[in-house]
Amino acid sequence: KHPPSRKGSMHDVPQNLLQQIKDFEERFTVDQATLKKIVAHFVKELEKGLTVEGGNIPMNVTWVLGFPDGNEQGTFLALDMGGTNLRVCEITLTDAKGAFDITQSKYKMPEELRTGTAEELWEYIADCLQQFIEFHHEDENLTKLPLGFTFSYPATQDYIDHGVLQRWTKGFDIDGVEGEDVVPPLEAILKKRGLPIKVAALINDTTGTLIASSYTDSDMKIGCIFGTGVNAAYMEDVGSVPKLAHMGLPADMPVAINCEYGAFDNERIVLPLTKYDEIIDRDSPRPGQQAFEKMTAGLYLGEIFRLALVDILDSHPGLIFKEQDTSKLRKPYLLDASFLANIEEDPYENLTESLELFERELNIRPTQPELEMVRRLAELIGTRAARLSACGVAAICTKKNIESCHVGADGSVFTKYPHFKARGAQALREILDWAPEEKDKVTIMAAEDGSGVGAALIAALTLKRVKAGNL
Ligand code: GLC
Repeated sequence: KHPPSRKGSMHDVPQNLLQQIKDFEERFTVDQATLKKIVAHFVKELEKGLTVEGGNIPMNVTWVLGFPDGNEQGTFLALDMGGTNLRVCEITLTDAKGAFDITQSKYKMPEELRTGTAEELWEYIADCLQQFIEFHHEDENLTKLPLGFTFSYPATQDYIDHGVLQRWTKGFDIDGVEGEDVVPPLEAILKKRGLPIKVAALINDTTGTLIASSYTDSDMKIGCIFGTGVNAAYMEDVGSVPKLAHMGLPADMPVAINCEYGAFDNERIVLPLTKYDEIIDRDSPRPGQQAFEKMTAGLYLGEIFRLALVDILDSHPGLIFKEQDTSKLRKPYLLDASFLANIEEDPYENLTESLELFERELNIRPTQPELEMVRRLAELIGTRAARLSACGVAAICTKKNIESCHVGADGSVFTKYPHFKARGAQALREILDWAPEEKDKVTIMAAEDGSGVGAALIAALTLKRVKAGNL
């Protein structure tokens, strides 16, 4: 599917609205030269993050030391705390090479938990695990199940089964967790509830995605998430990681690096920020952080759109939504990325779905020209997100001199947002300068389930290493 063409569709839009659209086009369009500039800066930040002094991007060492060989076996629990949902899985890696069985339950993370207390968070997680165990293992006498805990936030790890939260991302703001190891409070509550679970590994969703994807496709070199947040992981050799030099590890030992590149360009040197991005940052629980993520991730796309519309309401009173009650539109974070995705899916010819959406979610009945304007706005925001997202992938390929590879991707924006893949692929072509007749050399494709199967595989790899005595 190719992005729709807008040509010839805006004949009825009045001049002053067209001017608005032009302004948005100027603000949100990221041209080829800018993409290249971003990538060049990105490469430098990736390198800096691996040094002892460090940089904007944490480039966290994950202690995932190599890929699975397909002979991993056993039954594992996986707990996936991504940002929007909480998921518990039980995965059995079978003796058939590369095969597994999975049982899972998904729980919606209540919005209040994001800004609640640490105790509430751990209690909620324990509730989900307990429910899962009681439902699937009623009356069984379980021996301790190893757990892969996918905790998708930046964490410093000196060992694989612990992790000190560097800072919350994705709108989380729970006191008393930053700067602390998150494993002991989880283990304490599991113990208190008598749950037969032992944390074997703490994992980032990107690392899980990398490992799960390369398990079934050896061309996979990068694991990415384009969802509530954005980030990627890839394999480095220890010899290329100056901050590991003091440990005396073999230089050719592979180690997965969780880039945490949502923090890319926190200094705001190259990112083409709009005033809407500035407002999002200013009003977020962690201003000055996750600059790149705040322009590209699903958590923010609806908010960027809302702020752009509010801007027209305030700066050109009476230009749009005349004599309508716009109070709902003033509520921060009322719209999520699916609102934009639905508008983008609506055919330009009639936009009836979009009209219904506006009526249902916002209590506003836009005119046809207004619908065309919001459609274009959604397209611009979605396109900018996809094009910027490609910069992260291109930067890792450039840094590692990877000419061609597969990139395993997951997350709601990647799997659900219309045209995201085609737009990202187009941006990669522009950045990496492939000739028009050349096929895509770096292909971003749907990943295996990283936070479930990936977490189980990493737990299995870890236990194997413990058993062999080489941790
Ligand atoms: C945020 C988190 C990161 C995670 C990403 C995708 O950027 O900090 O750890 O990988 O979201 O979920």
